[in-house]
Amino acid sequence: MGSLKVGILNGGGDCAGLNAVTRGVVRKSEQFGYEVVGIRHGWAGLLDIDTIPLSWKDVSHIISQGGTILHTTRTNPFSHKDGPATVLNNVKKIGLDVVVAVGGEDTLSVAAKLSPMGLKVVGVPKTIDNDIVATDVTFGFDSAVNVTVEAIDRIQTTGESHDRVMVVEVMGRHAGWIAAHAGLASGANLILVPEKPIDLNEVADFLKRRHASGATASIVVVGEGCELTGHLSESASKLDEFGHPRLGGIGEVLARELERRVGIETRAVVLGHVVRGGPPSAYDRMLATRLAVAAMNCVRNGEFGVMVCVHGNVISKVPLLDILGKMKNLDTETLSLIKDFCV
Ligand code: F6P
Repeated sequence: MGSLKVGILNGGGDCAGLNAVTRGVVRKSEQFGYEVVGIRHGWAGLLDIDTIPLSWKDVSHIISQGGTILHTTRTNPFSHKDGPATVLNNVKKIGLDVVVAVGGEDTLSVAAKLSPMGLKVVGVPKTIDNDIVATDVTFGFDSAVNVTVEAIDRIQTTGESHDRVMVVEVMGRHAGWIAAHAGLASGANLILVPEKPIDLNEVADFLKRRHASGATASIVVVGEGCELTGHLSESASKLDEFGHPRLGGIGEVLARELERRVGIETRAVVLGHVVRGGPPSAYDRMLATRLAVAAMNCVRNGEFGVMVCVHGNVISKVPLLDILGKMKNLDTETLSLIKDFCV
């Protein structure tokens, strides 16, 4: 292909490594002789035409920066009147030959649906939640886990000094990847994940036994997507454009209930956005860069309607339609590690 105009957008929650992808796309585009346009605020930037030109100067040194210089939103063109047609028209107006859509399941599902409608699109998976199917791992996850582990290490020492149970709430809407990896890597005593319903009596009995046998402090890691019977997420009424409620608050409820049932002072810490922000780990910088290069190779080869991904540390690609409506939950190995090491 000759010279192309490439648009890049980020949708959904931000994560460490987004800027590394933008940098990779701009660098490869310049090598290929393509022009790059940054689409701001996710799909909203194609509903309203909100773009910025990007050249190597704009991406210099952003590999180490958290967040995204393009900004992001949870905009779903399919929930706007004439949204898909507006996006397709605006892509023409801007003169984009292809859009590189960097996002999680929601953003990529929009890409998957716009592709058969005529949008030339390549998807790049990202999320701290690590819950996208058809890829072994997403960038953002490793950075989030590292920050969570460091935080739990700190929470552990203060918990021990005060003989407390410390409940640590972490992000992860549908899947417990952050809770599981950070909990296992920090030696947490109990890890509660959305994949397994919480039985309060079981959790309380576990803590009673642990403390009766000599433990003076405990760490309980809980994924924000866990449900407690009888507890409704406080902001469940606030849905985003993809129909997801704003989560958060399970840690506080759990701490209250456990203190009442176990009789040991219990405190809750919500790590939430703290672990989503900040600089990417070296692993995430590399993964994001590799995926950016793979995406640009797809663009050059005219392969659209695909998502670049990683399988067994080999970069590859799958049809975007393969990920529609699916979720990567914790695997049996991780679930069994949780069982073996939570004592
Ligand atoms: O991007 C996924 C995620 O990190 C979820 O784990 C969490 O529920 C959600 O984002 C929170 O997003 P927001 O910052 O938009 O409330």
